[in-house]
Amino acid sequence: MKIIRSITEMQRTAGKFKRNGRTIGFVPTMGALHEGHLSLIRRANKENEITVTSIFVNPIQFGPAEDFRFYPRPFKQDAALCRKEGVDFIFYPGPEQMYPPGFKTYVDVFEMGDFLCGPLRPGHFRAVTTVVSKLFNIVFPTAAYFGQKDAQQAVIIQRMVKDLNIPVKIKVIPTVREKNGLALSSRNIYLSASERKDSVVLSEALKSAKKMILSGRRNADTIIKAMRKLISAKKNAKIEYISVVGLEDLKPLKKIQEKCLVALAVRFGRTRLIDNIIVKS
Ligand code: PAJ
Repeated sequence: MKIIRSITEMQRTAGKFKRNGRTIGFVPTMGALHEGHLSLIRRANKENEITVTSIFVNPIQFGPAEDFRFYPRPFKQDAALCRKEGVDFIFYPGPEQMYPPGFKTYVDVFEMGDFLCGPLRPGHFRAVTTVVSKLFNIVFPTAAYFGQKDAQQAVIIQRMVKDLNIPVKIKVIPTVREKNGLALSSRNIYLSASERKDSVVLSEALKSAKKMILSGRRNADTIIKAMRKLISAKKNAKIEYISVVGLEDLKPLKKIQEKCLVALAVRFGRTRLIDNIIVKS
């Protein structure tokens, strides 16, 4: 496994593989790797000849009041995990490489950042699509792997790739959870013991929403109300949003048709957690 810090070296290396017709599986991450990230790496490894993971805590996708400075950066541990999983290259650039002075270009997917997490994190998705486009132009992946955990991010990236004719296959991998249902996240380390215990309510509320929809409930408001009741029973839970939206356009639904995405963001103390479930009835 090789660690590459320079953009030109990564381009040169990936370009050589590409020209020789080798497939490149790419997993973009911000590090602090857990089983969720590793499930993407395993899929990339299984389906491609070369596996590249990027580790880059993208400064522009954090709001001014968000946790950029405190975001965990256990690089040595991450590198050991990547090596164990058979990653061929870690692309590990510094912010000054990715955003040199004079940087002015952004990639923005219109409207789809207006729903769910968008209004609460202004500029976040524009920053994600910008960095992911840059990474695609550096790693030349055949296929790139994203988690269903960040459902809105995955849908927006699929839209971007389609709209801009970027020659990469986007693969979305199911959410990895703890035994109790809590979706794995690099931010779970911020949770206190009691917050961690209470946060199990999120996956429980999503499961109960699925059950309600499958049993024939079609009114999105009824589902949201029932979830709200379950979650607000936990004293330290602060709901940011609970939404039922279309799978492709992320627009809120009033009446649920055959497919929908139920998504939520809830704060426990200073930790913001997101989770979602796709329901096909
Ligand atoms: P990060 O939060 O590090 O996540 C990297 C990838 O791992 C994302 O595609 C995310 O959806 C996936 N992932 C996280 N938790 C998961 C879980 N429990 N199960 C399955 N997959 C999971 O998402 C980002 O970084 C950044 O926005 C990035 C795309 C790297 C751009 O900066």
